[in-house]
Amino acid sequence: MSLETTAPTDRGLELETLVGELTLEEKVGLVVGAGMWATRGVPRIGLRPMIMSDGPVGVRGTEDSGVKTSAMFPAPSALAATWDLDLTRRAGELFAAEARRHGVDMVLAPQVNIQRTPVGGRHFECFSEDPVLTAEIAVALVRAAQERGVGMCVKHYVANDSETDRTRYVARVDERTLREVYLAPFERLVKDADAWSVMGAYSGVDDGRFAGPALEHRPLTTGVLKGEWGFDGVVVSDWVATKSVVGAVRGGLDLQMPGPDGVWGEGLHAAVLAGDVAEHELDDKVERLLRLAVRVGALRLDGSAPGEPTDGEFPEFGTTRASAAYLRELTARSMVVLKDDAGLLPLTDSPTQGVGEGSTGRVALIGPGAVDLFLQGGGSSFVVPDHVTDLAQELRAALPGSELTLHAGARPRKNPPLLDVAAACTDPVSGGSGVRIELLAEDGTVLDDLAAQPWDGWRHEIRTDAVVLRLSADVLLSEPGVHSLGVGTVGVHDVRVDGVRVSTGDTVVDVGIVLSSGHNHPLASTVEIEVAEGAPRVVRLEADLQVVHTVGYGVFTRAELVHALPGPSAEDELAEAVAAAAAADVAVVVVGTTEEVESEGYDRPSLALPGNQDELVRRVLDANPRTVVVVNAGAPVLLPWLDDAATVVWGWLPGQEGGGAVADVLGGSTEPSGRLPWTLPARAADVPVPDAIPVKGIVDYTEGVHVGYRAWVRDGLDPAAPFGHGLGWTTWSYDSLTTATDEDAVTVSVTVTNSGARSGREVVQAYLEAPGAPTTARAAGWGIHHRRRRCRRDGHRARPHPAARVPDLGHRYAPVGHTPGDYALRVGRSVGDLRLDAVVPLDPQEDSNTPTPK
Ligand code: BGC
Repeated sequence: MSLETTAPTDRGLELETLVGELTLEEKVGLVVGAGMWATRGVPRIGLRPMIMSDGPVGVRGTEDSGVKTSAMFPAPSALAATWDLDLTRRAGELFAAEARRHGVDMVLAPQVNIQRTPVGGRHFECFSEDPVLTAEIAVALVRAAQERGVGMCVKHYVANDSETDRTRYVARVDERTLREVYLAPFERLVKDADAWSVMGAYSGVDDGRFAGPALEHRPLTTGVLKGEWGFDGVVVSDWVATKSVVGAVRGGLDLQMPGPDGVWGEGLHAAVLAGDVAEHELDDKVERLLRLAVRVGALRLDGSAPGEPTDGEFPEFGTTRASAAYLRELTARSMVVLKDDAGLLPLTDSPTQGVGEGSTGRVALIGPGAVDLFLQGGGSSFVVPDHVTDLAQELRAALPGSELTLHAGARPRKNPPLLDVAAACTDPVSGGSGVRIELLAEDGTVLDDLAAQPWDGWRHEIRTDAVVLRLSADVLLSEPGVHSLGVGTVGVHDVRVDGVRVSTGDTVVDVGIVLSSGHNHPLASTVEIEVAEGAPRVVRLEADLQVVHTVGYGVFTRAELVHALPGPSAEDELAEAVAAAAAADVAVVVVGTTEEVESEGYDRPSLALPGNQDELVRRVLDANPRTVVVVNAGAPVLLPWLDDAATVVWGWLPGQEGGGAVADVLGGSTEPSGRLPWTLPARAADVPVPDAIPVKGIVDYTEGVHVGYRAWVRDGLDPAAPFGHGLGWTTWSYDSLTTATDEDAVTVSVTVTNSGARSGREVVQAYLEAPGAPTTARAAGWGIHHRRRRCRRDGHRARPHPAARVPDLGHRYAPVGHTPGDYALRVGRSVGDLRLDAVVPLDPQEDSNTPTPK
């Protein structure tokens, strides 16, 4: 293996010359962030700062105030569930437009880590448990954005597949597994999408050659990524992940984010002066930075001034009508019909339902997601949507003439909702709207006293000598009944309501903890407060909170103020929903997770639906068999009532157009043609990798290449729904399979027939099994067949499916050491429903088998 870095591009010489013109100080300044989201500019050479922003659910922009809104996409797993590269390219175009709209040069997305365990907190941010599907989707997305001059920073390199203790654990993975599963999408992105940037992970890797932080992993980053694959872009650190100067320099890190302080900000200059880091090592990083700047338009090699990131053709707009329509179509198409035994879908086509055009059918729309769809997971991918579509309103429009009632029915959240600070809180001293914030020094001296502040759970940029943030507010409780009020926080704290202690903590937390457990939705401690009829109360809320000092973020503290209004008991709420279901012609139940459950920062302790939602579904199914269940979740959850439900649709974390998309699916204007990009377990006990809890700091990938469905196939276990499953709303027969091998590729042609009554899309899936190793089945490729015209029930034959492109057949990720031989090619509707077979002779070691996309 070579440890050489990239060969210069055709612009290499010019870039090299520019690097030569920079001073050491300028060079050090360039490889350390200028703040949270920007790099430094060097006006002298015409270089402006480059601006970055999080994805992958949208482009949030660089303001945390929540004032700037963004187009909110469905979760990345939903995009992958379309298996549709055209839709994906359009997503890439919209990412580029959103980036420019927000003045952003590079989006910190996509996340191409593998869904190794269904409990992974960031599962929803990833595409798939399969590296081939992950790679194909990512390549299409990144290409489309980069073609428009916007960089995508592909993350997190590598084997950063779970969140428990995420800033510290080391993933122990053998080289074959790394290459075949976890590195594979990155390799495709470098080779086929010419990715401009890669983000190095918080966690570490032990691949047998080196065990330590990913950012210091010289064999994998300098060696494989830059040397072997020829990556000529920038390796960016995950935020605050840099732990060393020399180790990370040698490892292959090019840009420490954020800055300007931190390990490199404080130590890199001195390390060069001391000779611990050679200047040419720095030069290589600077050259990469400049290359990125040229690519995104922050530097022009002809000497002219660069434009701003918002330059040119991208106006300042909200989601345009076209973008909203695209997102709605994408979201509806991504939805997966898990089952529809009674043929309820779409509701408008279902004469037995009594709903639809001109009818007066009664529809009971039930569930926490029915009232308030869970649109996105928690963590850094969060965006404030441009707008949201309301499910009840959209469903009423989709089912004209129906009579629709709405019922929450269940409670999925542990924490009460966020307190409406602007409406309910006043500063106890000034009386202004908001909370009072005092910043205290170690000895209790008040350093700052800030009147009438907003509070959204975070406070950044706290002065560096502050040790405690004291928050106080008078909270108005008007409605009669029992209120619940409290605070969720981590670290040293002391929370009081009317002088009575609600919660204390004496564990000093560091940035690692805050970026993990404390980052999102700490469990709140609450008190109950009774308010009598006609006698509103004002209570004093006071909280002393530990301030955490971190690089780039300045210093901050985290505390969610929560408040539940008086209301019916959980049992009354459930009973009301069940009664409505019983009285309706059809019930639609929307159940799912919440951002407390699916979030960056922690993994899930259980795959169960949170709260009493399973009970709700069971009771609704008992009350009305004509029930459609919509699962509003990004990652797998157990559906213990699945056998008893007639119709179940996976509705994802659907983003801003989710309400409209669910209505389109139920109302019949868009086929839910998604196919699962992961395996849905039936029982927790069957899950091949049930958790990722580090043992003595190690997460051991003992399953090797048997990730996701490969493990299910190996173990012969039946999941609730296999990888690739999705029924759509028509049926298909698989008629014939032919293969043709030439020196570049194996082309697979499959003839399928739409044997149902409606037009539809079919994802024809091809899986390869290595000779003598049937359990290594892996997705080899797929093609999408779409008939627009409605087919008659009498078996109108759809046109033969065009050749399904097989992008990875006998590919370079083939298991190291595998002998050439006859591979079994199996084609069908999912890995659990394979209908046609062929044998293809392949030599995985030979480049001649490397397919070229056609
Ligand atoms: C996440 C990254 C993200 C970064 C910046 C980190 O905590 O792991 O995915 O891009 O924060 O928000």
